[in-house]
Amino acid sequence: MNSNINLVILHIFFIVYGEVSSFRCDRRPYGATSPSARPDGRFKLKLMGFDYSYIPDQLYTVQITATDGTSQFTGFMISAEGDMKPDPRNPRRTVSQFPGHIRPQDPTTARFSDRCLYSVEQAAATYKSAIEVYWQAPPTGNGCVTLRAMVAENEDLWYEDGSPLTMKICEDLRQPDDVSPRLNYECQICDEAKYEISFTGIWSRNTHPQSYPENDWIPRYSDMVGVSHSADYVLWTPGTLVTEGLKDLAEYANTSKLETEILEKVGDGVRTLIKAKGHGYRKMGNPSLAIFRTDKVHHLVTVAIGLYPSPDWFLGVTRFELCQEDNTWLAERELNLFPWDAGTDSGVSYESPNIETFPQGAVSRVQMSSYDKNSPFYEIDMKDLHPFGRLHIKLMRTYHRECNEASEGEEETPSTEENPKEDQSDTSPVEPEEPSRYQNPELPTGDGGESPLDADPESSEKCPMSQWQEWSPCEGTCDGGKLLGYKWRERYHLVDGVAVEKYDPSNWRSAKKEVSKYCKALYDDFERTECEESCTDDSDTIENTNDITARRRVMTQIIPGTSWRSKKRDSPLTKY
Ligand SMILES: *[C@@H]1O[C@H](CO)[C@@H](O)[C@H](O)[C@H]1NC(C)=O
Repeated sequence: MNSNINLVILHIFFIVYGEVSSFRCDRRPYGATSPSARPDGRFKLKLMGFDYSYIPDQLYTVQITATDGTSQFTGFMISAEGDMKPDPRNPRRTVSQFPGHIRPQDPTTARFSDRCLYSVEQAAATYKSAIEVYWQAPPTGNGCVTLRAMVAENEDLWYEDGSPLTMKICEDLRQPDDVSPRLNYECQICDEAKYEISFTGIWSRNTHPQSYPENDWIPRYSDMVGVSHSADYVLWTPGTLVTEGLKDLAEYANTSKLETEILEKVGDGVRTLIKAKGHGYRKMGNPSLAIFRTDKVHHLVTVAIGLYPSPDWFLGVTRFELCQEDNTWLAERELNLFPWDAGTDSGVSYESPNIETFPQGAVSRVQMSSYDKNSPFYEIDMKDLHPFGRLHIKLMRTYHRECNEASEGEEETPSTEENPKEDQSDTSPVEPEEPSRYQNPELPTGDGGESPLDADPESSEKCPMSQWQEWSPCEGTCDGGKLLGYKWRERYHLVDGVAVEKYDPSNWRSAKKEVSKYCKALYDDFERTECEESCTDDSDTIENTNDITARRRVMTQIIPGTSWRSKKRDSPLTKY
């Protein structure tokens, strides 16, 4: 009986010991006969370019140096150890988190250790006063890492652990800002919104000199393509495989397949297809502009912009939440964009030849700090890395909607009803089953809607356009009595006398009016320009906070989806 208990205790001891030794391996110098001595501060472990926390995926240089300038050592080991966390498969046990990779910088001075994981040792037992190796920090979510050094002056005098030879560092939790905020699954905003999204490139020889393509006329951005969509819909997201369409965008800056894929999902998670022209030679810094709409179902925005040339890199933001937790539409946000890797091509630099990745990998960050000399990000400190573009998302206006309006159902109402109603008398104040209510939320206020509008005589007969709407107020900050900023205006394509928005497919769907590809390409329906006005510094702030309402007064004479000739369509809708 007694011996039985002893056996059990012995057994437990081995389990515990076994676990401990699995992450603390034997670091003694080869041939050492004595235990380690207390570190006396003459040797020090140092992490270069490190503040107080590590940046995930960043490549760091780790050094052992002699602090007195004279001491030398023959052997060493540098190891990375991850924090322990409960084993997801067996909560009573713990497992080590991934501590990143430790790598030799120079094979003549260091090599991977045969004895310990995530460790390197001396390649030769020569005398040295300093040594450098690489540590590539783990991806985000791996908590803290302990870097440990063992330093041996000789077989009998060696040191490990303790302050100058050990450091524990934790993840820098600041995120690149193109990582999406938390989704709001309970979006309760009844009003719909219209946003402007603009992409501005910042990729040049100045900002990204390393490996920048030799020929200046080659680099360009693809068209920006995206969607406003519901939480169920995914255009692309890290950790999943991309579609053929996104592969074409990332590898060849060709967006046609992606657009087709998106249009197939209109009404099935997609509200608006976002499309804006990409720029190239000498115009890399020109903004690409587009407009999209959101509502309480479709409150996320995803865009992608291909970087050309590149193996399969693209910029963008995915599933970006516009419906804020207090149930208001996000007013404005600027995002710095860093490349994503579509997982379809294994090249390391912009102009690498095509190397199909097989099997296809998942979307991830392009390795932003690399030990591959051919990479544009070779040994780059992430804190010095310039973004490759900037995205500006801005609320243009909102449209009042009743909370109980069943938009989906109404949308399906056949559009044939529309025309008979056109002929009904002016006395009917409200048309309860109005089929196109969903599409004309741009309710006129005041007299704007009363005046009939003509096609712009400047536009061709084949592609009639409405006249340009009024300019928006000049927006910007008032500085010393002068307002420098931007204003914008829009117009619509007219199809059978109906104003149609180019890239809001939900409009075409019930109205069954589609602008031909030819006309879409022929005329822009949106323009933005710089403006300058005099202003007074204090009223400026007030104006800016109320700008949504102010604009509503000025703009919106045309209601897309309705006949622009019809007065009565405009007048009864006096919900305001
Ligand atoms: C883009 O890809 C489509 C096929 O998906 C092809 O038909 C088209 O010619 C390509 N466009 C360009 C400019 O290469």
